[in-house]
Amino acid sequence: MMNIRQNRREFLRRLIASSLLVASRGSFAADMPMSHGMVRPQASPDFDPDIDLELESMPEMLQMLPGEPTRVWRYRGRVLKGGEEALGYLDGSGHLPVIRARRGQRLRIRYTNRLMEPSIVHWHGLHIEQRMDGHPMYAIGNGESFVYEFVLNNRAGTYWFHPHPHERTAFQVYMGLTGLLLLSDEEEMAAGLPSGEQDLALVLQDRSFDPDNQLRHLGRMRHDWMMGFAGDTVLVNGAVDYSKRLGRRAYRLRLFNGSNASLYRLRLSGGRPFTVIATDGGLLERPLQRDSLTLAVAERVEVWLDLSGLEPGEEVQLLAETYTPSLDNISPQQNGAALTQWGRPLARFIVDQSPAVPGSLPARLSMHGVVDRNEAVNAASPRQVVMSMMMGSGRLNGRVYGAMDEVAADEVVKLGTSEIWEFANGAAMGGGPGGRGRGGMGMMGMQMAHPMHVHNVQFRILDRIQEGGEHPVSAMLREGFVDEGLKDVVLVLPGERVRVMMSFTDHAGIYLYHCHILEHEDSGMMRNFLIQA
Ligand code: C2O
Ligand code: CU
Ligand code: CU
Repeated sequence: MMNIRQNRREFLRRLIASSLLVASRGSFAADMPMSHGMVRPQASPDFDPDIDLELESMPEMLQMLPGEPTRVWRYRGRVLKGGEEALGYLDGSGHLPVIRARRGQRLRIRYTNRLMEPSIVHWHGLHIEQRMDGHPMYAIGNGESFVYEFVLNNRAGTYWFHPHPHERTAFQVYMGLTGLLLLSDEEEMAAGLPSGEQDLALVLQDRSFDPDNQLRHLGRMRHDWMMGFAGDTVLVNGAVDYSKRLGRRAYRLRLFNGSNASLYRLRLSGGRPFTVIATDGGLLERPLQRDSLTLAVAERVEVWLDLSGLEPGEEVQLLAETYTPSLDNISPQQNGAALTQWGRPLARFIVDQSPAVPGSLPARLSMHGVVDRNEAVNAASPRQVVMSMMMGSGRLNGRVYGAMDEVAADEVVKLGTSEIWEFANGAAMGGGPGGRGRGGMGMMGMQMAHPMHVHNVQFRILDRIQEGGEHPVSAMLREGFVDEGLKDVVLVLPGERVRVMMSFTDHAGIYLYHCHILEHEDSGMMRNFLIQA
C-alpha cells in the first residue's frame, strides 16, 4: 500500500506530467473534445444562416456503365433555406453535389452519416474554425449528425468537400463522396466572367470497375498503398464519356482533380492554349497562358475558353496524360481505346448552331497584394517539412500520424503570424543511392511526387529548388504548373524543395497538413499542427 506521502508524490508527478503534456500541445486542451466521437448534433438558435442545408452520406446504386448498376457512396442534400441555386448536382452521373454561395454568407449544414462506418465532412480550402473543419477527431457514426455553422470568408473560388475520417478517406472518396463548393464575391462579379450555363465544373476522377461494374479499390498490400490507387478509366463528373453541346461563346471551365492519387497533364485539342484565370484560392491577378496544365490530387485550376470562333459542329477536346505519383505514365498502356497520343479525350465540347458571341476577358482579374517574404517570422530559417517514404508509409519529418490531437513541439505556430514552410521531397534526408531524383527505389524507399496540403490557409508559392538530377517527367509536369495564385495544395516533385508562405489569422486550433494522395494520407503521411493563440 502506498502511504499518503507517496500518494501525494505520485499525484504531483502525474500533475506535472499532464501539465507538460498540455504545454507541449499548447494551451488548447480546454477546447478539445473529450473523445473524437463528440457529436455536435444541434443547430444553435443564435446562428441565423443565409443558407441552411441538409447533407447525407449514403450508399446508392447508380447507372454508370451499360449493364449492371454500380454501388457508390454519395452525398445527397436538401435546401432548407437559401434558394434552390444553393445546391445542385454536376451533369454527368448526377451524384456529385455543388453548393453555391457568396462570400460573407452564413452557412449551416446539417450533416448526417448514413454509412455503416464513421465519417465527417472536411471543407477543403476554407478558412474556418477548428470545430468546423471536419478533422477526423469529429468523425460520427451511422445515424449520427454534425451541424456545421460558419461564415464563408474565403475569396471567390472553387473549393470542395470530402470525407476525412481516420484511415478511411481514400476509400470513401473513391466510392463517390466528393462535392464542390463554389464561392462568388464582388471582386469576381466585377470581372464579368462567364456565369450560369457558361460556368462549367469538371471533376476528374480515375476508377477501375470489375466485370460486374463494381468499383475496385486497393487490397491491403502496403506496397499498393504506397504507390497510390491508379484506375484505368478517367471519369468526368462521374461519367465515362463526357460530352456537352456548347454555344459559340466564352465559357469558364473549373477543372478539379478529384482522384485518389493520379496526376493529369491536360491539353486542349488543336494546339489551343489554356487561358488560366484562377487556382485553388480564387482568381489570379491577370490571366495567364499555358500550353498544358498539370493537375495533382485536390488541385483546381480555372480556364476561360472562347468558342465564338468555331464553326457549328466543331469540337474542342480536353485531353490528358495520366501519371501515377511515381511519375509513371499509365494511360497509353492501360487505355486500349487511345485515340491520340494523348489518350481518349476526357471531355468533348461540341459547338452548336447558335450565333457567335465573342467574349472578352479583363486584363486584370483581381488584386492579391504582393507577398513580402520578410514579413514571415521565420524568413531567416523556414520551417522544414521533410517528406520521405520509409518502412511502408509516407512520413513528414520522420513521423506518421499519431493520436488525434497529437502535436509535436515543432508543429506549433503562432496566431497572427506569417510563416514560410519548405516542403522537402526526400532531399534533406537523401534519397539514398539511386533514389535521388530518379523515382527509383533507394535506401530510404521510393521517391514520388507528393501534393502537399495545409488546412485552414491559402498560401503563396515562393520558390522551387530542384536538388540533384531531375526525373524526366518532372520537366514536362513543371510546364503545366500555375504557381502564381493562391494555393492550398502544391505538388512537390521528387528531389524538390518548395517554399510557400502563409498567414495564420483568426482561428487558433488544431489543423492538419498532409500529402493529398489519399492512400498516403490514410497510411499516416499526415500530421496535426497547432495554431496557438
Ligand atoms: Cu482535402 Cu485534409 O484535406
Ligand atoms: Cu483540406
Ligand atoms: Cu504522398
